[in-house]
Amino acid sequence: MPNSRDARSGWLRLPEGSATDAAVKPAPYLPIYEQLLGPLRKEAFTLLELGVWGGHSLQMWRDAFPRATIVGVDLAPPELALGPRVHVIQGDQADAALMRRVRDELAPTGFDVIVDDASHIGITTARSLQVLYERHLRAGGIYVIEDWGTGYLPDWQDGGRMTSTLDADQLDSADTPLQLGSPEPIHMPSHDVGAVGLLKRLIDHVARGTVRYAQPEMVGAPLAIESMTVWDGILVLRKPAV
Ligand SMILES: C[S@@+](CC[C@H](N)C(=O)[O-])C[C@H]1O[C@@H](n2cnc3c(N)ncnc32)[C@H](O)[C@@H]1O
Repeated sequence: MPNSRDARSGWLRLPEGSATDAAVKPAPYLPIYEQLLGPLRKEAFTLLELGVWGGHSLQMWRDAFPRATIVGVDLAPPELALGPRVHVIQGDQADAALMRRVRDELAPTGFDVIVDDASHIGITTARSLQVLYERHLRAGGIYVIEDWGTGYLPDWQDGGRMTSTLDADQLDSADTPLQLGSPEPIHMPSHDVGAVGLLKRLIDHVARGTVRYAQPEMVGAPLAIESMTVWDGILVLRKPAV
């Protein structure tokens, strides 16, 4: 995942001293957040971040959004005193009962923005989505999954090696040659390990209208995703406004 630590001049600034901490958001993420969250700069809204670490990103949100309520959840948060608008809660990102309590207490109408910067493990990330997206993210809200590229890290808990290179001229290739006119569906294999696999799975939810049209019996109860935007390291899901 990107790890440039260059100083920058935008309005989102991590606190001094955080640039050397590899667990804190890398600098290339900040312009993406500026683009996403710029319309909220003067608004009163609620932001939930899963994954607190040293509290650097919570401070950044607090300072950039003077009317926002900021909530951080972490398995083992440090003692932090970040003022009355910042709430730090100990707990698991996928604990449904905890999330219900946090929402009832701090965001009764639901969160406007949820950022998952916690485990970076596909299954846990999926469980948080299940717990939070439909029930606790407001209509029109934004759900961000950071560092999903852990699925490319061979040593990560649920990461793994690629089985083919990214050469552009291999886009139409597979282990067995792809043949138009084959009686079987044609699979275009891709890396589907860990959080990378989760992202690719979510595309099926974006396509729920097409699935409903083509195979209505397969729709079930999908996530209502209006759009899915993917950068290297950051995924953004937008929930429909109505
Ligand atoms: C990448 S750090 C967060 C960095 C922080 N958001 C920032 O940008 O400064 C990840 C944090 O997630 C926490 N974490 C890992 N698994 C978790 C889980 N299942 N539930 C809650 N927090 C978790 C870790 O304790 C760690 O503090």
